[in-house]
Amino acid sequence: MNDNVQQIKERLNIVDVLSGYIRLIKAGVNYKALCPFHNEKTPSFMVSPSRQSWHCFGGCGEGGDIFTFIEKIEGVEFVEALKILAEKAGVILEHVDPKLRTEKDRMYEICEKAAQFFTQKLGNPNANVISDYLHKRGLVDKTIDEWRLGYAPDSWDSLLSFLKAKGYKEPEIEKTGLIIQIQNTKYQIPRWHDRFRNRLMFPIFDANGRVVAFSGRLMSEIITSQTERADSGKYVNSPETVLYSKSRALYGLDRAKTEIRKNNKVVLVEGQMDILLSFQDGVRNIVATSGTALTEDHLMILKRLTENLVLAFDMDDAGFKATKRGIEMAQSNGFNISVLELEPGKDPADFVKERPGELIKILQNARPIMSYYFNQVFQKFDINKIDGKKIVAITLLSEIKRLPSAIERSGWIRELSLKLGVSERDLEEEMSKIESQKTDNFQRLSASNPHESALVKTRKEILSERLLALLLKAPESVKEAVKIASVLPPSDFEILSAFSVKSADTTNFSDVRSALRSDLRPRLDFLYLAGDFEVEKSGPDFNPTNEIKRLINDIEKEHYKEMLGKIEIAIKKNESLSTISGSTELAMKNNGRAFLDGKNLETLTKEFQNISNKLYQLNEK
Ligand code: UTP
Ligand code: MN
Repeated sequence: MNDNVQQIKERLNIVDVLSGYIRLIKAGVNYKALCPFHNEKTPSFMVSPSRQSWHCFGGCGEGGDIFTFIEKIEGVEFVEALKILAEKAGVILEHVDPKLRTEKDRMYEICEKAAQFFTQKLGNPNANVISDYLHKRGLVDKTIDEWRLGYAPDSWDSLLSFLKAKGYKEPEIEKTGLIIQIQNTKYQIPRWHDRFRNRLMFPIFDANGRVVAFSGRLMSEIITSQTERADSGKYVNSPETVLYSKSRALYGLDRAKTEIRKNNKVVLVEGQMDILLSFQDGVRNIVATSGTALTEDHLMILKRLTENLVLAFDMDDAGFKATKRGIEMAQSNGFNISVLELEPGKDPADFVKERPGELIKILQNARPIMSYYFNQVFQKFDINKIDGKKIVAITLLSEIKRLPSAIERSGWIRELSLKLGVSERDLEEEMSKIESQKTDNFQRLSASNPHESALVKTRKEILSERLLALLLKAPESVKEAVKIASVLPPSDFEILSAFSVKSADTTNFSDVRSALRSDLRPRLDFLYLAGDFEVEKSGPDFNPTNEIKRLINDIEKEHYKEMLGKIEIAIKKNESLSTISGSTELAMKNNGRAFLDGKNLETLTKEFQNISNKLYQLNEK
């Protein structure tokens, strides 16, 4: 084994090996990079080609050679790292003890054998319809082969029998997710069946190109199925296994990583088909999340390669909410995000099929996410109306507020000011009123009982709900209500925005409903009902306008009260901090900070007075 280690070290260069995982930048005789093992903004991860070693001088202080690096980054034991590197070096490992063939090894083997089984089935003459389908989608044979597409026959146990004949046992096959144990008490002994039946099969590869899972697309549209249930989804995927974690997997990464680093840019799409057609069309710095929302783990993996993210999602679909969270996560992780806009309802796969050779060109036109938001919002609302203008301002300000860079923030505020004809100062004032999502989340986290805090409505939430219900009965009051739009709970703000969409007529149920994100529609249905109920309860002479005025006033008051409560907590914290540092020695050490704290306390107190003043004025009304 020692010989092998030596041999591998001689054949591989640490710079080449590590470049497969992180972006190395030349720094004199050495290289530096952002440490992949902890989150950092400036590179403190050093690689020495002369000593063939690496070390992180930042947070984690780790270091070692190519073997320790592979162990850590792949999350594997030494033997596994040895194998990975041996393969890269073209070294054949001698005396590998068969006992070292771990359970994991057998799982890799099973997945590999299954991939071979499926590809072979695609080659069968009776699978011609599937090949035809793939050609119709725009795929050429080379792509189909390269990505090892296959077909899972319409049978309960064809794969299972195949693998059993190769000497694998059901329990270990089950661990790969390829078969499912039948939950039926009538069987005395356990029984299993294939998970994938009558499906077009996409093997999913890990970062080293090994098959670790599968995604199977419905084929019953073209081949009637005996084994598939009508309610099963368009895609069936492998479950989480020892080899496969959905929150980390990025389809295509094994082939895309070099290109991502070279381009210093990654294009993100949703599906396998998008990847296949984009690769075929010459765009190779591209990966897919395969149906799951973007996670912190995905972002950590991509951050090792680039900080520039181009989203090529269908942004209008129901998945927008999930995408939005991913975008916010990426922003706070320091990614530059831009958006590639395709025709609504079209994905990159459709685009490539219709206009081959053009994807690479239109990717140059991807626009910064903020400019994309500007475009969307200005298209949706009429800024010649008060409510439209106000809602445009608040929607965009809450995005601008999220930007980590003050320079960028002020740039976009200037842009917004020009477009709306509202002064930058007024916009900044409005922005300060918007509660950032961060504080919201922070409050939720620090609440003593998270379930309670999520279930019990605050007074502001109750008032806001009534306001919306009544506005549905008195749409002419919407323009007054937008005055307090920025302090409404976020989802109520969105509903109020839907009332103001360009062509929407509030009294027309379907107009507002279709302007609203689909996950908020049930709430809208409820609000319509609540509005009807109010009217019903109060008789035919009921005039909602006065009640709406009162509610607007109350919500504003409630907002100021909430703010006072928060400032009070901040003040208390500040005070207790300065009592802790009361001892003279500490006070001297902390001189600078104590001064800052004092100043903070002063601003806080001023703010407190300011707001209680506003509250008083409202009460006078
Ligand atoms: P889409 O439904 O957009 O798939 O889902 P697609 O790529 O356009 O598929 P075609 O073009 O109809 O063949 C995007 C991705 O989401 C995952 C799959 O990974 C898919 O590629 N997905 C979708 C699931 O996991 N389950 C589903 O039921 C649907
Ligand atoms: Mn598609």
